[in-house]
Amino acid sequence: MSIERYRSENIRSEIPRKKKVNPFKFGSIVDEPYFTNRREELKRVRSILESQVHLILMSPRRYGKSSLIRKILKEINRPSIILDMQVVTSEVDFAEQLMKKICKLNPLQKIKNSIRSFRFTPTISINPVSDELNVSFDASKAADLILEDVLNLSDKIFTKKRPIVVFDEFQEVRKISAHFETRLRSILQHHTNTNYVFLGSQESLIRDIFEQKNNPFYHFGYLFKLSKIPKSEFQLFLEDRLKPISGSFVEIAENILTFTDGHPYYTQRLAFQVWENFISSSEFKDPVLTAVEQIVEFHDVDYERWWGSLNRTDMKVMVGLTFSDDLPMSKEFFQQFNLGSSSTVHSSLKRLLKDGYVVRIKDHYEIDDPFFKHWIFQRRQA
Ligand SMILES: Nc1ncnc2c1ncn2[C@@H]1O[C@H](COP(=O)(O)OP(=O)(O)OP(=O)(O)O)[C@@H](O)[C@H]1O
Ligand SMILES: [Mg+2]
Repeated sequence: MSIERYRSENIRSEIPRKKKVNPFKFGSIVDEPYFTNRREELKRVRSILESQVHLILMSPRRYGKSSLIRKILKEINRPSIILDMQVVTSEVDFAEQLMKKICKLNPLQKIKNSIRSFRFTPTISINPVSDELNVSFDASKAADLILEDVLNLSDKIFTKKRPIVVFDEFQEVRKISAHFETRLRSILQHHTNTNYVFLGSQESLIRDIFEQKNNPFYHFGYLFKLSKIPKSEFQLFLEDRLKPISGSFVEIAENILTFTDGHPYYTQRLAFQVWENFISSSEFKDPVLTAVEQIVEFHDVDYERWWGSLNRTDMKVMVGLTFSDDLPMSKEFFQQFNLGSSSTVHSSLKRLLKDGYVVRIKDHYEIDDPFFKHWIFQRRQA
């Protein structure tokens, strides 16, 4: 596909073309023009949201779950609510946050009529200075009843179009309270109007919640795993944006992707740095390696701390993963990196996966952060 065709098919809003505006973005939610299309994923997710089935969308950190779902919600024209479970402190707090969002999407009179049937009436106030709406329940009352009333309201109140309710970082459900997961499922299973979307970044926990027979959310929805962005698609996205600053834009784009392997966040991070460097000078022998080394140096203290928090077996596994492209579970490999028994390696990988240092892609393991991997590589070579 040519860049011209890619542009006409993919970019609806203009990317910043002024020489001084960096066309890459990382760290927060992205939408066009910073979003590469993910056409297949958008189609699949939209189709599930049109059905009566709930969606579980998982991927390692920073693969673009939040951006993808927000983009769809923006385009789909249905009432939607996003609750970030990471900042919810209790079941009552969850009910308050949800109630607040319901209030924002509905006329006050409708809310007034609806809460008449509540077993505990919330206090709804508006801060006269900031116009911020606030909802609070008496936290000493039965949390399960408050939760049930608010969740049932959210399923019933949107009568014209079916609502979509997204729980971001859903694996946090287990930290909020011991009964929350069970209570939530017992209420949600009766809802017929809402599409629920569960986003999660800890695959083992998400699989445990939705794929273990004895857990309440067992097989509650369609499990969809988001992958990295295919290199061919990312290549054109990068080329299009690097073209104004360097004649070697094709090669630079390729080198960026060789380093990041199409990881959405790290690709944008590296491309951002390359672009920044070109704005101050165009005299680089190897612009991508220069940018990689700058980023690694910038995070040196973090990497020292991460490394220091690992035990010796974890360190050996990380070194093994740095020097081999994946981790074949062979005797030779264990011997080469002095890894001990296969059960020791498995428990180490389990820890590293849980802490997000390592991700499992299909049938192999890899270090999630290519810059951290480079840091380990440099340290071992020094
Ligand atoms: N479709 C995309 N095209 C280009 N870059 C993207 C895309 N999706 C995500 N990114 C990059 O990845 C970063 C992280 O995206 P986002 O916050 O949506 O991921 P996430 O999976 O929700 O992350 P977390 O696990 O931290 O919640 C963005 O800031 C952006 O740089
Ligand atoms: Mg997110």
